[in-house]
Amino acid sequence: MNILITGGAGFIGSNFVRYMLEKYPSYRVINLDKLAIGGSLENIRDIEKNPNHIFIKGDVCDKNLVEEIFREYRPEGVIHLAAQSHVDRSILEPEEFLHTNILGTFTLAEVARRWWQKEGTADRRVFLNVSTDEVYGSIEEGSFTEDSTYAPNSPYSASKAGADHLVRAYYRTYGLPAITTHTTNNFGPYQMPEKLIPLVILNAVEGRELPIYGDGRNVRDWLYVLDHCRALDVVFHRGRIGQVYNIGARNEWQNIELVRLICSILDQLLPDSPHRPHQGLIRFVKDRPAHDRRYSIDPTRIMTELGWKPVHRFEDALRSTVKWYLDNRTWCDKVRDEQYRKYYEKNYSGR
Ligand code: TYD
Repeated sequence: MNILITGGAGFIGSNFVRYMLEKYPSYRVINLDKLAIGGSLENIRDIEKNPNHIFIKGDVCDKNLVEEIFREYRPEGVIHLAAQSHVDRSILEPEEFLHTNILGTFTLAEVARRWWQKEGTADRRVFLNVSTDEVYGSIEEGSFTEDSTYAPNSPYSASKAGADHLVRAYYRTYGLPAITTHTTNNFGPYQMPEKLIPLVILNAVEGRELPIYGDGRNVRDWLYVLDHCRALDVVFHRGRIGQVYNIGARNEWQNIELVRLICSILDQLLPDSPHRPHQGLIRFVKDRPAHDRRYSIDPTRIMTELGWKPVHRFEDALRSTVKWYLDNRTWCDKVRDEQYRKYYEKNYSGR
């Protein structure tokens, strides 16, 4: 089977492509990624030469290219991960988010539905739209279910909400065999060091401040990326067409507590560091505008219907993630390029 994975050189995407190539040796993965922010060839070096992995550098908004891919490879499944995903960047420069996240999803859905309509019936085709819990907005108590109302608060989450609505409309209007997933915060190897966990690890190692927005009491539910890959796998193969699935770990942490935990892991792993105890580097800084207080989703549906649950113990996965960043400093230096440094300066100076 040929499957098209978009954003397969990004954080979740590269982990997912690697996972699929290993688990399904008979599949051919066509990986479309424009190598923008978060996407890098450095994330897929080890699978570059795998004959079942076809990497295509290109934009998901490029209709001709997407059509060409469908013509040449006739994918039976699309797993759409290509997106701009960093809230702080979306606050500084929202346009790119609307472009990639909304127009990109539109282009892919439009080409897929036309192509599959033309090809006629098949056993199973799936357009898996990978989305976020952030479309539901913030919740003080309890958890969002798949039926909760959308209430996005950042340009990023609004753009993902727009994409989700389009995918739903394409299912209803044209019968696009779509499924949407909403996942909580992911962590693991290959995540860009502009997101909280890798940023804290690297700043701490380098003896730089650990910037905590506001009072640090905002809550996120953290899911190890490989557990997310397993969830996408079961939804892709066994999920109900037209359905929505929330993917969460029921693993909620206040930012400040999570950062303290990372600091204590680093204290253990780096006994000779001059920056010990790393907690001394924590600084509370000006809050993010419209900073969602708490994300919490209820993963009951995927657990009961598809039998998925996270299998990685959080503290172990976090420790191995910290180790991965310590062991892959060349990767870290490569992805923290000029553009990254400019973003960092713009986001954190004067905070
Ligand atoms: P992030 O990794 O950007 O994910 P998201 O905003 O999509 O949840 O941030 C996770 C949490 O950490 C969020 O509440 C914002 C907070 N945060 C900080 O306190 N300082 C930082 O420098 C960053 C990047 C995030």
